[in-house]
Amino acid sequence: MAIIMDGNGRWATSRGRPRLFGHQAGARRVSDIVETCPDLGIRYLTIFAFSTENWKRTQTEVSGLMTLFRRYITKEAQRLLQGGVRVRFIGDRERLDPKLARLMDELEQLTAANEALHLTVALNYGGRDEVTRATRRLAAEVAAGRLAPEDVDASTLARFLDTCSLPDPDLVIRTSGEARISNFLLWQSAYAEYEFVDTLWPDFDPDCFREVIGRYGNRDRRFGAVHG
Ligand code: IPE
Ligand code: IPE
Ligand code: MG
Repeated sequence: MAIIMDGNGRWATSRGRPRLFGHQAGARRVSDIVETCPDLGIRYLTIFAFSTENWKRTQTEVSGLMTLFRRYITKEAQRLLQGGVRVRFIGDRERLDPKLARLMDELEQLTAANEALHLTVALNYGGRDEVTRATRRLAAEVAAGRLAPEDVDASTLARFLDTCSLPDPDLVIRTSGEARISNFLLWQSAYAEYEFVDTLWPDFDPDCFREVIGRYGNRDRRFGAVHG
């Protein structure tokens, strides 16, 4: 299961509030949804928190978001640990503030033994950037003579992706009415089902979540084959 959490800005603007107010409301929603996962039998959840393109936003919004990520990790670490949540981050950490990158590393280590829910947070993540970084590392292995070009197949490349230890998503949900993927999990979503819902992320409550998952249950997934 993966979610593109979109609509925080519009949610705030429609209330005459700054965009960051929407991001704060959105962060609270993350906790509600994470807590609902075990009831719904969801073991893997990947959420899109910040894209490689989101740096194009104003400095105020970007730095507000970075502060929010730091505060969220500090505040929620113990609850995530107690709740059996294993947290991992995907995306390029190099460009992030070192203080934030350290908090991310620490949260990963703190929760490494948990397995009730595998929560992956995509932060400074872009699908093209991920495939590019993976290819660069794969090419270095080839150049070093540790990997033969003819041995490179899809599973080889997948091993170099940030998501190497995670299953592909069966369902990708995007909130806020936009029907696009905005560079999220490009490789991994090859056969994912999509659900685009009009609800803005801060309004996406556990009941909405249950409803969307119920709809997914009716899908016929063929993976290119023909059913008899
Ligand atoms: C999603 O909400 C959160 C991030 C991209 C960080 P937006 O900030 O994109 O909200 P809208 O799409 O402008 O309403
Ligand atoms: C995608 O939302 C990124 C996240 C939800 C973090 P955006 O709001 O950045 O996507 P676009 O710009 O509408 O495609
Ligand atoms: Mg948006």
